[in-house]
Amino acid sequence: MKTIKLPEPAALTMSLGEALKLRRTNRDPKADPLTDDKLAAILWAAAGITSEDGRRTTPSTLDLRAVDAYVLRADGAWRFNAADMTLEQTAEEDVRRVSTAYQFEYVERAPVTIVFVADMERSKNARPQGVWVDAGTMGQSCYLAATALGVAGCVRASFDHDALRDAMKLPAHLEPIVLFTAGLPA
Ligand SMILES: Cc1cc2nc3c(=O)[nH]c(=O)nc-3n(C[C@H](O)[C@H](O)[C@H](O)COP(=O)(O)O)c2cc1C
Repeated sequence: MKTIKLPEPAALTMSLGEALKLRRTNRDPKADPLTDDKLAAILWAAAGITSEDGRRTTPSTLDLRAVDAYVLRADGAWRFNAADMTLEQTAEEDVRRVSTAYQFEYVERAPVTIVFVADMERSKNARPQGVWVDAGTMGQSCYLAATALGVAGCVRASFDHDALRDAMKLPAHLEPIVLFTAGLPA
C-alpha cells in the first residue's frame, strides 16, 4: 500500500467572521480533482496537530483523539496521518459510491470524501456520544476551511456504516461516523 506526502497546506487567510458568514452546504462540485494543497488545508483544519503534546485544531472527548480523518478518492481510500502530513492507503479501489445511501451521482462526481472514523476501542471509556461530537466539530472545521478556499462541501451522514468500513478495509473496532464531501464548485 502506498503513502503520499501531502504538500504545504494552502493558506487559510479569510477572516473567521467572513468564513462563518459565507459557510454553506454546496452539493454541486466539478469532477476535477481537488489539489493536494487544498485537501491538506481541509484535513489540517479538521485534525491537524497544533501542540507538541499532540492536541489538535479540534477538541476531543476526554482528550482521547479517537476520531481520525480518512480520504476517499478515485485512487482509493487513505488514512490521514496528521503527525507527518501523509496519506496512507487502506484500499486501492474507488469506494466513494459506498459512502452514500442515495446520492450516488453527486458523491461519485465529487473528487473527495473525507470520512471521520472513530476508534471504538480507544473511546470505550467515554460516553458513546463523545466521538460523534468530535466528528461534528471536525465537520464544521472542514466547512470553514472549504469556505476560505472557495471549495464546495457538504457534511453527510446517510450511508451504510458497515458497508463503508468493509470497503475501506478497516477492522471492526473502527467506525465511520460522518463524512465531508468536497470539490471545486461547478
Ligand atoms: C449530521 C448531519 C448530517 C447530514 N447529512 C447529509 C446527507 O446525508 N446528505 C446531504 O446532502 N446533506 C446532509 N447534511 C447537510 C444538511 O442538509 C445541511 O447542512 C442543511 O441543509 C443546512 O444547509 P447549510 O449547511 O447550507 O446551512 C447533513 C448535515 C448534518 C449536520
